[in-house]
Amino acid sequence: MSEQKTILITGGAGFIGSHLVQLLVKKYAGYKIVNLDKLTYAGNLENLKEVENYPNYQFVKGDITDVPFLEKFFAQNEFDGIIHLAAESHVDRSITDPMGFIQTNIVGTVNLLNVARKQWTGKSGKRFYHVSTDEVYGTLGETGYFLESTAYDPRSPYSASKASSDHLVRAYYHTYDFPIVISNCSNNYGPYQFPEKLIPLMINNIRHEQPLPVYGDGKYTRDWLWVGDHAEAIDLIFHKGKNGETYNIGGNNEWKNIDLVEQLCDLMDALLDRPKGNSRKLITFVKDRPGHDKRYAIDATKIKDELGWSPKIQALEGLRLTSQWYLENTEWLDHITSGAYQAYYQQQYL
Ligand code: NAD
Ligand code: TYD
Repeated sequence: MSEQKTILITGGAGFIGSHLVQLLVKKYAGYKIVNLDKLTYAGNLENLKEVENYPNYQFVKGDITDVPFLEKFFAQNEFDGIIHLAAESHVDRSITDPMGFIQTNIVGTVNLLNVARKQWTGKSGKRFYHVSTDEVYGTLGETGYFLESTAYDPRSPYSASKASSDHLVRAYYHTYDFPIVISNCSNNYGPYQFPEKLIPLMINNIRHEQPLPVYGDGKYTRDWLWVGDHAEAIDLIFHKGKNGETYNIGGNNEWKNIDLVEQLCDLMDALLDRPKGNSRKLITFVKDRPGHDKRYAIDATKIKDELGWSPKIQALEGLRLTSQWYLENTEWLDHITSGAYQAYYQQQYL
């Protein structure tokens, strides 16, 4: 039986959050894991079916932008740690409608900092962990990597909102000696990712033999991190990281978008018993994203040297596992792509 602790996870019904909740609930029987989530379009309790009846798990529906709710919630619950993932997370949506990103990612984060600071003043052994993105560092050219010391240079409303919240979290450390830790990771992929992000969107479209919209020339590069590896890194940093520090987490797995989409086409053709080359014919180059960051790549030396973490799942294996998962979970996929998703997809692509 592990030590007794009560840990609040925000955004635990989302993609990364649901993997983290599952990991912590199963690994630490002595912890009470409280998942606070507003259940926006991106939050889905179906992601948590496996743990919903565990005695050490509790779900609470709530909005981090709602201060009276948060004050009441914190008056009723004493937390030892907070792992904060709740956010608006999709760059394209932040371009169409930035305000929700400002509200949840900036104001919501400060609301949480305030209620936690009030609860934790005069107490030791607490920790507020902010889960952030490498997009705060801006964009790279053909070479180089983001380090923890790289200057912030966010370029989309999404990344600017995450950069802002990182700064505020760090400001609470310096100003109030509030116990924080931050990690900035690269693009995650794997099961339960909402199909507005590149990989599940392409898998879903290949499945339905719909056009595969590749932005611009397709030569934009991302470093893909297997979501399970990320959840393990968060667990490690939460328990072993140092207060006030930042850790970069990367997959060491760079792909140009077009190469990745072609790879997915070939994998899916094989899994669906379609002739090789079938799905590549669906690739359609479309209008570029405004302010599109050219390349992200992480130097994850610090977390490797200091905490002994490195990614376990590499390139092709991760893409195969992901494609297989989506094909085995078409009910989940069909459910999540019904209703509001159709309206979003039509506005974005059609
Ligand atoms: P997601 O969009 O899948 O999930 C976000 C979750 O937050 C959802 O369950 C949603 O309901 C909840 N939420 C949104 N607004 C809320 C509010 N006001 N109050 C309470 N809950 C709210 O996101 P994700 O991909 O799982 O990302 C999780 C975190 O990791 C985010 O902070 C994101 O910025 C960061 N991140 C994600 C990636 C990635 O590749 N997905 C990469 C780097 C960093
Ligand atoms: P995305 O998954 O939205 O993550 P992020 O913008 O946070 O990196 O996009 C990954 C890359 O794929 C990015 O370069 C934009 C590109 N992209 C497309 O080419 N087509 C699409 O339909 C989507 C959603 C993304």
